[in-house]
Amino acid sequence: MKNNLFSGILFLFILLVSACQTPDEPEPKSEYQPTPYEIEIPPGFPTDLNIPDDNPMTVEGIELGRYLFYDGRMSGRTHPDSLMSCATCHIQANSFECGIDHPEYIGGFTHGITGKPTHHVMLPLINLIWNSSGYLWNGMICSDNPVAHFRNIEDLVWMGIIVEHEMNSDTNRAKEVIQNIPGYPELFKKAFGSETVTVKNMARAIAQFIRTLTSTDSKFDRYMRGEVQLGQPELQGFVLFTTEEGADCFHCHGGSGNPLFTTNLFYNNGKDSVFDDPKDRYSITGDPMDHGAYKATTLRNIIFTAPYMHDGRFNTLDEVINFYSHNLVWTLYIDPLMHHIANGGTQLTPGEKEDLKAFILTLTDTTFINNPDFRKPEKFPDEK
Ligand code: HEC
Ligand code: HEC
Repeated sequence: MKNNLFSGILFLFILLVSACQTPDEPEPKSEYQPTPYEIEIPPGFPTDLNIPDDNPMTVEGIELGRYLFYDGRMSGRTHPDSLMSCATCHIQANSFECGIDHPEYIGGFTHGITGKPTHHVMLPLINLIWNSSGYLWNGMICSDNPVAHFRNIEDLVWMGIIVEHEMNSDTNRAKEVIQNIPGYPELFKKAFGSETVTVKNMARAIAQFIRTLTSTDSKFDRYMRGEVQLGQPELQGFVLFTTEEGADCFHCHGGSGNPLFTTNLFYNNGKDSVFDDPKDRYSITGDPMDHGAYKATTLRNIIFTAPYMHDGRFNTLDEVINFYSHNLVWTLYIDPLMHHIANGGTQLTPGEKEDLKAFILTLTDTTFINNPDFRKPEKFPDEK
């Protein structure tokens, strides 16, 4: 008996020693090893990316984010009639905007579950990984916001859940509902190392997914890569777009040297003489020169995101081009880059307007709106 006990202990001892004697063997794999996501930056696109240090992109994080982006239970509700997800408004076919012909958001004006309208018309979710200058029409969400919860895409997730004009829910409810859906805890573990669903990790995952929504394959991109030719009207429109004596769009909306087709900055582009929107750029900066200023949005996929301007005042690109040609309104606050203000606009001829529009349409990227990686997943985690 004694002997047996002794040999048992000796055996254990040998085991332990031999375990210590094999230092070359790989460490046992811990379960939490997310796969870094490799971002390909096409030539000409900026290399400066908006990825916060505490939210590196991983394959697992993006997969989880895509489920959550499309899952109406993110609103903390489970009844089929009361669901709302980010994708209820941000629709891939419309460059993650809602478009002008949405049956519920008539004319492009979104509202939340309560019926309360959003402050402005929508913004698309496109190439936001290249935007470090602030989100929303007025740039309220930005890295130098003194309030820590208003700094990046991550913060728009919890805001979307709680605000009345979107999901009108609460984050605890959302967290609880997601925690109790089979399949999700495991995905949270793979992405963030813990099965416990937190608002922070929901936000991180969705933000990671949104950062993958890049558009780099419009006809214009292919032209720049030497893969296709542009037609005469498109080329003439390109020249108009990028010259001051032409249509003079490029200072704010980019061009061949800025393939994002936005500077991501804020300007007063001369639409009004009175500024009474409590949520313009001035409401954020307090700088009087920001009265009536808003984000100069990207012109990529602009054909899918009518109506135009923060208040949706123009329904078509023709109306927008006519505005810049003839209808600019001078005020003290107009941006100095509106060089043709003294003439009320650039005074394009009908033929030039057609060419300019033909060029703007080369910024349409159907690869983006059809990209299977951005689509609603075929099945949610609990349906597998
Ligand atoms: C009810 C419709 C609606 C829902 C639901 C919604 N959004 Fe939005 N989203 C908007 C509108 C409208 C804007 C523009 C608001 C503004 O700037 O005043 C916007 C703007 C944004 C922007 C800023 C884009 C930019 O270029 O600055 C991001 C990011 C965003 N939403 C993410 C989300 C996420 C994530 C969700 C889900 C948690 C979500 N949205 C749910 C309507 C919606
Ligand atoms: C001084 C900067 C500036 C210049 C120059 C400029 N824009 Fe804009 N553009 C803006 C701003 C700012 C907005 C958003 C204004 C708002 O919503 O009130 C905008 C909005 C737009 C929109 C609507 C975007 C949307 O998502 O609703 C289109 C289309 C557009 N511009 C096209 C052009 C074209 C074409 C030209 C040249 C003829 C041009 N812009 C010149 C600053 C500029």
